[in-house]
Amino acid sequence: MSSPDLTDLERQAVLDVVETRHLSMGPKIKEFEQAIQTFCGSKFAIGVNSGTSGLHLCLLAAGIGPGDLVLTTSFSFISSTNVILYCGAIPVYVDVDPRTGNIDPVQLEQAVQDIQAGGEKAKKWLPRKGMENAGSLKAILSVDVFGQPADHDTINRIAKKYNLVHIEDSCEALGSVYKDRPAGTLGDFGVFAFYPNKQITTGEGGMVITNDEKAAIHMASLRNQGRAVGDTWLSHTHLGYNYRLNEMSAALGVAQMSRFNDLRASRSQVAQWYNQRLNNLPGLSLPYITTDTTLMSWFVYVVHFENRAERDRMAQSLTDENIPVRPYFIPIHIQPFIVNQFGYQAEDYPITMSLGERGLAIPFSGVMTEEQVDFVSQKIKHYL
Ligand SMILES: Cc1ncc(COP(=O)(O)O)c(C=O)c1O
Repeated sequence: MSSPDLTDLERQAVLDVVETRHLSMGPKIKEFEQAIQTFCGSKFAIGVNSGTSGLHLCLLAAGIGPGDLVLTTSFSFISSTNVILYCGAIPVYVDVDPRTGNIDPVQLEQAVQDIQAGGEKAKKWLPRKGMENAGSLKAILSVDVFGQPADHDTINRIAKKYNLVHIEDSCEALGSVYKDRPAGTLGDFGVFAFYPNKQITTGEGGMVITNDEKAAIHMASLRNQGRAVGDTWLSHTHLGYNYRLNEMSAALGVAQMSRFNDLRASRSQVAQWYNQRLNNLPGLSLPYITTDTTLMSWFVYVVHFENRAERDRMAQSLTDENIPVRPYFIPIHIQPFIVNQFGYQAEDYPITMSLGERGLAIPFSGVMTEEQVDFVSQKIKHYL
């Protein structure tokens, strides 16, 4: 499905760390944080061992706790909801824009108004069960789906008006630009992820960015077993976690960031090759990029078919040809443990369901050759 783009630079960077025998909490994590900070223009960056742990720290720093309501979308990777559950909070979903899969800002504002109004109006948006200890609405967790930033100006206007924290899950969007501002910097907190299918990889890893100094210091403490500034190795001011990023991973991240423009450009080239070859085919829609996305940093290449049967037929045909493909996403609100806990039903979010039933991610990475793209495209045309 994907492949990291690694060179001798990355191999040497990891070897150099191993030679130093300083494998954790050394200089590389600081260097990597500085690289991301400079790249995004944020005041603070906190390296962590996954995008999921980064999102968790943001919610904790934002003071999200048991019973708090967090508005988010079901059309996402599971972690954006899991971190809400880790805090004992309640995920409340809003449907998405059918073209981008990002949160629909009109529905978002309606949901905020109705939930704050309470009573029957609020009920329309809230889960059918799991609401025994429900409190008030505290935050919006937006997702930059497939690398494309959500409509953050509108989300921020809503967040400000109704006094909500805005956490931007930018795990799929490092290097994308929204109205000339970098993804990840568009809410109160932003998070990137570095699994091997991402724009850059550290094997496993993530990074939180923010301009909030107090929150940054708190998150740095929570990632390091709750040791606050001044604590010794065995004293712990807070309940913390081991969410640290090791030095080999950080070194990999530094090397990848030094080549970022090339990495982003290669992915963009592969997307353009697909765009040219798959354009204007009946029964197939290609990724839609809004004019607000002034620069797209591609994460995956997801095409849509007219219905689920067509999508599944294509998926099977390509799989039979040993071309790896993946339905993207299976919505979160229909995952068994979420249904058990909150009683959401498939039809609660029709656009999310439709995208999930019709979407197929095809092989995509910055190291794909034009011949490989050609091969996959020919097969898709043939089966269409
Ligand atoms: C939207 C989104 N959020 C969160 C994550 C979590 O990142 P990680 O796998 O590094 O924990 C991912 C990773 O794929 C993601 O795509």
